[in-house]
Amino acid sequence: MSTVITGASMGIGRALALAWGARGATVVLSARSADKLTEVAREVESRGGRALVIAGDVTDPAHRRALVDAALAQGGVDVLVNNAGRGYYATVPEIDLAALRALFELNVLAPLALTQLALSSLRERKGTVVMLSSVAGVVAAPRYAAYSASKFALEGLSMAMRAELAKDGVRVLVVRPGPVDTPFRQNAERGKHETGYTRPDPRAQPAEEVARRTLLAVERGRAVDETSLFVRFASVVARHAPPAMRSALARMAQRPPPA
Ligand SMILES: NC(=O)c1ccc[n+]([C@@H]2O[C@H](COP(=O)([O-])OP(=O)(O)OC[C@H]3O[C@@H](n4cnc5c(N)ncnc54)[C@H](OP(=O)(O)O)[C@@H]3O)[C@@H](O)[C@H]2O)c1
Repeated sequence: MSTVITGASMGIGRALALAWGARGATVVLSARSADKLTEVAREVESRGGRALVIAGDVTDPAHRRALVDAALAQGGVDVLVNNAGRGYYATVPEIDLAALRALFELNVLAPLALTQLALSSLRERKGTVVMLSSVAGVVAAPRYAAYSASKFALEGLSMAMRAELAKDGVRVLVVRPGPVDTPFRQNAERGKHETGYTRPDPRAQPAEEVARRTLLAVERGRAVDETSLFVRFASVVARHAPPAMRSALARMAQRPPPA
């Protein structure tokens, strides 16, 4: 079984690589930091898996081609995990359009392009595409407009893709975490006046738990996994009580950003 994982050098992607490795899978790992990826590969192998390191920028078409070719050389793509992504904290007037375009390249266009490249193999192997969305893919909170726009786009893409690929036996799983204990906040883009979001969120869920749930959801052929009670609650309120969600978000906009 071969699993391609983007953004595997840290955070959720690293936890996913270790979890699949522990199942004896071959994981094909992508991220820009070759050293960190090599370390993750070593950890995967110490748990009984096999790991290939393909370092590069997932917004680069040549890297995407190399990544899929490496998986094809292992026999094909059983699971493609589109996990690499970045946050962007900024109020609407502060959103920089060039930075937003770059965010869409990473959070939306790269997952689409990788899926297109892997599609014939996924069809042959009745594989699964995993899309790392977020609670921000169903609720757009203040200071999250740019990031939410990218995750709403990813959700739309995934919903239509799931419908189109069902007849070929290819599944599409959307994973929706809330805050997760990873370097995500430190790695995020920020508006000029955005001073918060520098420390880990005290409510954050361990990355290992998100990984464990993701593997289970793939095995069970689920369409969506909302990884915490917080996400499930936010999702229900957004769908069934939109005025209550609008009031909560308006109140949130009055408060300073978290530290
Ligand atoms: N952490 C959270 O609270 C949270 C909540 C909901 C959803 N998510 C989503 O979960 C996914 C993973 O987040 P995380 O928390 O694990 O974030 P993270 O700790 O910041 O890790 C992001 C990963 O993406 C890679 N990456 C970033 N830009 C890249 C690029 N241009 N090309 C290739 N790789 C790139 C990074 O590696 P390099 O820097 O080495 O390239 C790293 O491995 C993201 O899609 C995120 O939106 C996270």
